[in-house]
Amino acid sequence: MEFTRRQLTKLGLTAGVGVALPVGALSRPVARLLDASRVASPEVERFETSLPVPPTAEPVRTDETTDYYEITQQEETAEILPGYETTIWGYDGLFPGPTIEAQSGRSVVIEQQNELPVPVSVHLHGGVTPPESDGYPTDLLFPPDFDHDAIPSHHTAGTVDGFSHGTKEYTYPNEQRAATLWYHDHRMDFTGPQVYKGLAGFYIIRDEIEDDLLLPSGEKEIPLLICDRTFREDGELYYPSLDPSLLGEHGVLPVASDGWYGDTILVNGAPWPKLDVSNTKYRFRMLNGSNARVYDLELDPVPSDGSAFVQIGSDGGLLETPLSHDRLRISPAERFDVIIDFSNYSIGTEVTLTNRRGSGKTADIMQFEVTREESDESEITSTLSPPLEFPDPDDAVETRRFNFLAGMEGGMSTINLQSFDPERIDANPKLDTVEIWELDSDPAHPAHLHLVHFKVLSRNGGPPGPYDAGWKDTVFLDGDTIEVVARFGPYRGKYVFHCHNLEHEDMMMMANFEVV
Ligand code: C2O
Ligand code: CU
Ligand code: CU
Repeated sequence: MEFTRRQLTKLGLTAGVGVALPVGALSRPVARLLDASRVASPEVERFETSLPVPPTAEPVRTDETTDYYEITQQEETAEILPGYETTIWGYDGLFPGPTIEAQSGRSVVIEQQNELPVPVSVHLHGGVTPPESDGYPTDLLFPPDFDHDAIPSHHTAGTVDGFSHGTKEYTYPNEQRAATLWYHDHRMDFTGPQVYKGLAGFYIIRDEIEDDLLLPSGEKEIPLLICDRTFREDGELYYPSLDPSLLGEHGVLPVASDGWYGDTILVNGAPWPKLDVSNTKYRFRMLNGSNARVYDLELDPVPSDGSAFVQIGSDGGLLETPLSHDRLRISPAERFDVIIDFSNYSIGTEVTLTNRRGSGKTADIMQFEVTREESDESEITSTLSPPLEFPDPDDAVETRRFNFLAGMEGGMSTINLQSFDPERIDANPKLDTVEIWELDSDPAHPAHLHLVHFKVLSRNGGPPGPYDAGWKDTVFLDGDTIEVVARFGPYRGKYVFHCHNLEHEDMMMMANFEVV
């Protein structure tokens, strides 16, 4: 593993100083099997499949305080590409999984049952969740008869809640404001391939403040999980795992060491879908569920009048006031809650959601066709939420610096030059105190903190960027240095923070903080 001069400079190390590397950092995956970069998905006609919307999960029972769900993680066959069968791993056998609809202040308990051939761990991304239910990477939920001695010990170290076999109950208090969350797999060293196979779904929290607004709702409020996948010629998903059984050696072929990029764009599990709309406003809860790909979304044609996207919410719920964007950059795991007003187009217009960061097929995402006129009762009010009570940076009792550095040539990915160790605590904020974290990246990393939402204070010494508004839990660092402020709580315990490029995450770009 070698560091460039720029990387060393950023780390405050000058050339000639020896850099201590974690043991194993020098071993790099050996190229084998096939050249992954030559696998190409079957051709699909774009904008033919209609946009699916994931079904809403039904509670198995409810009581005064809580809704109870049961979800089975299982292998299923899905027709993703027309005429092909694809094996997926899904929550209730679905990709995306069923959407959980939660109410702020009302608990949700989910009993997860693992019928897959591998261990799993379920994380609610964006959830303010007690540590035992947060899906710590080594809090493994094994299949019922799985022999966990077969798993290398570093996959099972440092567990917060211990192991489970067959089923595990996760409790989500939902003591947080309305927001678009998502749940996904978080298994130690194997999150990338397991999310890729389909283990991801929406979790939407609602509250009265939001319900009182006149935002587009019902059929005009649509979650969009955007991701990229590559398929083999027989229609099965292709992922460049060193061990495709996901039971032995973890990691990916060198071609994917900086992230695996699929050649087919899926929205809610359908390739380049199409949605017929009326000439009214629609609310889209956009989630980048890709392993590594960053999108720069745009509408084609651009609206004759007004902005393409009016952002009303971020990872952590509504903004105070709407924010207009012509383009929307969305990195893995970020959520943008946006309104698109199709009254800016005449009937019959086909409006393509495009991706300026893509090329060829990945430059297209999906298409809307404005097929009909309709009256529009919805409204985007100039005030969306009471003032957001961000922590005051002057109250910070600690400032910490974390550098996200990708491994060179297929090596480990690191935070502060250390690869993830489940047993090492990298930060120990005190309960209910405010801290400033300075996050620094080389080259590009979506940084994510569990448990807390934060406010971006600055980017490269200047003001926050156009996509930093509101409460965030994931923020894109495009070689940038940013400062964020957060209040650590309301739970004590050990949580992870990490790069949400899932290949980087699986290559150990993750660390622990423990709220004490
Ligand atoms: Cu989206 Cu640590 O997770
Ligand atoms: Cu998370
Ligand atoms: Cu990264």
